[in-house]
Amino acid sequence: MISFKPVTAVDIKALMQIETACHSHPWTEKTMLSCLGGRYFNLAAFQQQQLVGFYIGEQAGPDLTLMDICVAPDFQGQGIAKQLLSAFIDYAEQQQAENIFLEVRESNTVAIALYQQTGFIEMAIRKNYYPSKESDKNGFEDAILMGISLSLSL
Ligand SMILES: CC(C)(COP(=O)(O)OP(=O)(O)OC[C@H]1O[C@@H](n2cnc3c(N)ncnc32)[C@H](O)[C@@H]1OP(=O)(O)O)[C@@H](O)C(=O)NCCC(=O)NCCS
Repeated sequence: MISFKPVTAVDIKALMQIETACHSHPWTEKTMLSCLGGRYFNLAAFQQQQLVGFYIGEQAGPDLTLMDICVAPDFQGQGIAKQLLSAFIDYAEQQQAENIFLEVRESNTVAIALYQQTGFIEMAIRKNYYPSKESDKNGFEDAILMGISLSLSL
């Protein structure tokens, strides 16, 4: 059974293991550490004692941003990201946030499907936002800015 709780810097090794397994251009450990605490909030999924997924969010006034969400490859496809995202939205509602934003690589069809299913809509394209290893994209890839307006859905 999967359980959920926030993590701190003591969990950095487990967070980085998932981060590097999941992303072509993972955050550095320094970036990850800088996103634990302060205006950032998180939730991690555990299978018994093993950290198997997490999200990192940022709060800036009425706006929350989903900075990162990852599920360890062996645990993908089991609804864990859906539960993490649902918890993120519950947290946003508790905080009386007005908007949730995120950016996603245009090639990341799995994440885009997850976000659309959760109610996010496409708001804008950020041209050449991400570094890319695909040579046909000149080393960069567009980001899709997606969002949910909670104030409109109340
Ligand atoms: C994106 C990610 C977090 C999804 O995690 P997950 O736990 O496997 O997702 P879930 O099992 O909760 O699935 C939720 C939805 O995502 C989509 N999805 C998940 N796996 C999919 C796949 N292989 N193909 C297409 N859509 C998929 C579906 O819409 C799915 O809903 P459904 O099962 O009702 O069809 C995971 O693939 C991951 O860590 N990817 C690498 C990191 C990343 O890209 N993060 C997003 C950065 S913006």
